[in-house]
Amino acid sequence: MKYKCAIFDLDGVLVDTAKYHYLAWKELAGKLGFEFTIEDNERLKGVSRMTSLDILLEVGHMQDQFSLEEKEKMATEKNDRYVEYISRLDESEILEGVLELLQELKGRGVKIALGSASKNAPIILKNVGLESYFDVVIDGNSVSKAKPDPEVFTLGADRLGVSYEECAVFEDSQAGLEAAKVAGMLAIGVGREEDLTDADIVYRSLKDFDVERYY
Ligand code: BG6
Ligand code: MG
Repeated sequence: MKYKCAIFDLDGVLVDTAKYHYLAWKELAGKLGFEFTIEDNERLKGVSRMTSLDILLEVGHMQDQFSLEEKEKMATEKNDRYVEYISRLDESEILEGVLELLQELKGRGVKIALGSASKNAPIILKNVGLESYFDVVIDGNSVSKAKPDPEVFTLGADRLGVSYEECAVFEDSQAGLEAAKVAGMLAIGVGREEDLTDADIVYRSLKDFDVERYY
């Protein structure tokens, strides 16, 4: 079937920012006195900042040790570090195949939305120069329910006036793929097949995406 709309996750799909989230969380774990591995980090992909912190604390067996106020302080500390990393971002951190795909979709009149959990999405899009490709941007500032809830994707489709079945979602996280499926959208995984078992189809990189097949 042919789709009318493409909804892109941001971190790890369009730009290589997942590594900066990881570094900033790893630093926090280090301060708290435990190791946070790249495998542990898989569970943080796609989920909100506070849920990420809860998972991190669970990894360190510290989940019941802090008040909400202390946790908010830790999340702010992590975000300050992350913002430092992304303030130096430029177009060299756009992932392979992204620009070509966005241009191809635009040329075909496909509606393009961003569906990201990140509250830092606007600054990232601006720093890497991708803003102009998006007909609508839905991010962590616009939704009340985080992935795997489908709100971030359904809101994008609603704003564009397309039905959910006409949307394909590009995601590098299980939480995001699950959200796409719940919404009744095509769930395209970007990354390693073994990490993305909820996807309808997985591409190692967007440069391998078969536009002709879907649009
Ligand atoms: C998602 C990331 O895109 O955004 C998550 O995959 C992150 O790891 C989430 O926790 C929230 O991001 P931010 O920038 O608002 O802390
Ligand atoms: Mg992501």
